[in-house]
Parts: sequence; structure tokens; C-alpha cells
Amino acid sequence: MSPALTIRPYSEGALSQAAAKLRAGELVAFPTETVYGLGADATNADAVAAIFAAKQRPSFNPLISHFPDRDAAAKQAVFDARADMLAKEFWPGALTLVLKKQSDCTVCDLTTAGLPSIAVRVPAHPMARELLRAVGRPVAAPSANRSGRISPTTAGHVAHSLGSAIGMILDGGPCGVGLESTVIDLTTDRVVMLRPGGITAEQVAKVLGTEVVMAETDDTAPKSPGMMTSHYAPGLPVRLEATAADTAKYGHEVLLGFGDCTTKGFDAVLWLSKTGDDVEAAANLFAKLHEADQKQFDGIAIAPIPDIGLGVAINDRMKRASAPRAPASSSSDTSSSNSKSP
Ligand code: TXA
Ligand code: MG
Repeated sequence: MSPALTIRPYSEGALSQAAAKLRAGELVAFPTETVYGLGADATNADAVAAIFAAKQRPSFNPLISHFPDRDAAAKQAVFDARADMLAKEFWPGALTLVLKKQSDCTVCDLTTAGLPSIAVRVPAHPMARELLRAVGRPVAAPSANRSGRISPTTAGHVAHSLGSAIGMILDGGPCGVGLESTVIDLTTDRVVMLRPGGITAEQVAKVLGTEVVMAETDDTAPKSPGMMTSHYAPGLPVRLEATAADTAKYGHEVLLGFGDCTTKGFDAVLWLSKTGDDVEAAANLFAKLHEADQKQFDGIAIAPIPDIGLGVAINDRMKRASAPRAPASSSSDTSSSNSKSP
């Protein structure tokens, strides 16, 4: 455990310290009624990149943005009548809604993995709500454990799993639910359950008066991005490990640069990280992919990125972006481009 790790039980001072840290771009673990979350300012890509670094996640799944109430969530996500009915019934609580982003959504691309949708939740734990109110910004928070380990339901679990990687844990005692929130996708006309949790499909169906489709069993339903490549895929072809330009072979390419890569011969260079910093590159990843994806270029070349630290997740993401596309898919249709998960 890091000597700098602070574990603080509930107090006004502890909450304002945690809120100040989050606003400054630091990570804070906090209790929710489901599991402890590893929080970062969802609008700050550097802070969100630090979540992935701390968790040692090998891929960039989109994260849930947490809010103190429905109205704060509605500033970032578009609520239709169904979303409002579910929010009214189950919030605050263990339900996450995947909705379309507002056009002026300030949550960063790394939080949403470049998707046009955003996952929003209002947790019921009083400490979480007070913290979220004090931060005044959306807080991205996956479970506060290293990737592949069990989800933490006490501050001690968090300290054991992430202690050396984070600076502060708010201790709210053991979590009541102990199971992650139910995730419901409302971005289409259907109601799709992406992740089962404490709130059941029957409960959701009863409130909406419609059928709830399970993503796992229905091949036509959108899958949770963790399970497949419904992530943002650029329209242009993507080439990995590009060590040199070759216009005869690849046409006019824009290079996503990293460290001391060769930039000669490329039409343009967008830097993931000029200094070869994996956390900085992760923070820039989705924004630079979007920026590179312009019709004036023939393709996107990616400089070699070492498979260490967040380089593993960056390379995983780039491999998906460069995977062969299904024919006749439009460039903006991310659900039909790319093959299934590698
Ligand atoms: O109980 C919970 O939900 C905990 C506590 C801390 O709130 N949080 C949590 O977050 O489990 P996370 O990031 O581990 O789970 C995110 C889930 C994943 O299954 C992810 O694929 C899905 O939500 N998700 C997030 N954004 C999405 C999006 N735009 N479209 C589809 N699925 C999304
Ligand atoms: Mg988790």
C-alpha cells in the first residue's frame, strides 16, 4: 500500500477533500450501493486515462458517468419518455441507462470510448450523492479493482487491490448490493439489457410495459462494448505499426505519432504523445482518431506503440479499428463495421 494513500470515513472535510481532488484531475475511490467505484472527472481525458492505468485494463471499455440526480444527467444525455420512467422508478439506485449524448455533451471521448452514446447512473449511496453534488461534474467510475479481480465492496478491498495506484479512498462501510448495476440500452426503439444486475428485466419491463431483450441471447441486439466491437470505428482504413510512409502503396496518410517515430512523407501528423507517454496517448486516442478520420486522407497510419502499460489497451483498440470491415457498411455505422471481437 502506498504511504500516500488516505482512507477517510464520512465527514464534511473528507468529502470536500475528495471533491477537490476529483476536480483537480486526481482519482478517488468512493462507495456506491453496488460496489466501490474508482472515480475521475469524466470530462477530463487525462484523469480518465489514469483510471485505466490504475486498473491495468487491457482494453478501453466505455465507463459509466455518475450524477447526483436526473437533471444533472440530462445535461449530458438525451432522456426520452422511457428513460424518464425508469429514472423516476429506480433512481437513485442500481440502474445504468445508455442514452444518446447531448450535442453539447462535455464528457470526454475516452469515457464513452468514442461512442455517440453515454452510460449514466445516479447512485443511491448518500456519500456518493453528496460527493457528486460537491464535484459538480460527471464522475466516471468503473469498479475500484484491478482488471480481472473481483469487485470491491469494502474500502479494505479497494486498498488491497489498488492501494499503490490511487491517493484517496472514501470509506462508506460495506456496499449493500455487492453486485454492479443493471445496464439498459435505450438508444434504439427496443429496450436491451446489456448487463444483468440487481434490478431485473421483469422489473424494467413492468415499468415500461414493453419487452426487454437480453443482449447475450439475441444476436440482433446491440452487445455491451466489452463483448464486441460496437466501438467507434473510423471510416478510413487504418494501418498499424507504420514505420515509414509509402504513398504508392497506401496513398496520402495521416500519421498518429508516438515518441520518436518517423513522420517523413506523411500528409499530416497528429500526436498521440510526442514524448512517448502511454497515459497521455490513451487520453488523446479517441479524439485523435476522430480528427484523423477525414476525407482528404486515404488512410490513417499508426506509429508503433510498445505493448507496455496502457500501450496494451491502445494497441487492442487500434487493432479493432484496423480490422477488416463488413462490406457495404457506411463509415458512420459503427455497429456494422468491423468483425466481432478478436
Ligand atoms: O454498479 C456499477 O455500475 C459500478 C459502480 C461503481 O457504479 N460501475 C461499473 O462501471 O460497473 P463499469 O465502467 O465497470 O461498467 C460499465 C458497463 C460496461 O458493461 C460497459 O460496457 C457498459 O457499462 N457501457 C458503458 N457505456 C456504454 C455505452 N455507451 N454503450 C453501451 N454500454 C456501455
Ligand atoms: Mg468491473
